[in-house]
Amino acid sequence: MTLSSLTPRPLIAGNWKMNGLAEALDQARAVAAALDARPAAARVAICPPATLLHRLSETLEGSSVLTGGQDCHAKASGAHTGDIAASMLIDAGARLVILGHSERREDHGETSALVAAKVETALAAGLEPIICVGESLAQREAGAALEVVTAQVRESLPASLAGQAFSVAYEPIWAIGTGRTATVADIEEMHAAIRAQLVLIFGEAGKAPPILYGGSVKPDNAVEILRAAEVGGALVGGASLKAADFLAIIAAA
Ligand code: PGA
Repeated sequence: MTLSSLTPRPLIAGNWKMNGLAEALDQARAVAAALDARPAAARVAICPPATLLHRLSETLEGSSVLTGGQDCHAKASGAHTGDIAASMLIDAGARLVILGHSERREDHGETSALVAAKVETALAAGLEPIICVGESLAQREAGAALEVVTAQVRESLPASLAGQAFSVAYEPIWAIGTGRTATVADIEEMHAAIRAQLVLIFGEAGKAPPILYGGSVKPDNAVEILRAAEVGGALVGGASLKAADFLAIIAAA
């Protein structure tokens, strides 16, 4: 394998979470138009709420901006009221899916074993997973961050990811939506530990998947974060809701 085949383009993914009514499509349109005029070095994706996914995918058709879901069920189909199957995300135009976000782990009691099952189902449907990991403030203060996150990587990534396109997003929970970001030194330390885990699991191929950072990435800190060692992109929440902010982050990659 050549070095370039091991170094995919960075990924900048917007996670709209439970935000966005129809009018939010205008923001996505503005992002696509700007990138059409001035193509980005990074791959760019927007993961809207499920209600907007189909319309967003249609809106962005023909543009360079991909769409993604924010979750899918671990089963391919069936009696699961209120849930969304991986095949439905594909049907709605998604190419990617965020799995194991800390808000899902916390709000819905998702375990790493469940996340791994979701990853399997997502891959089988043809989706590219973005698998989230990250420690709480209490875990960091107890000196357990590395241990917690590397265990999440081991337990949330099934062997079937070997040879597939995917990324891991490191999102310290205490940095999400708080305006606090991890220091570059902390990010580099954690990303190196995640990379080492990926190589342990997948061998040489574990050097390829981008490791994204997430947690209060904004236009004013994006350059320093995206330049850090082993940072292969960003998962952006709040700052992805406004085209201008999201574009500034994309330009930094
Ligand atoms: P934030 O969210 O950028 O608003 O901190 C990031 C995320 O949770 O994906």
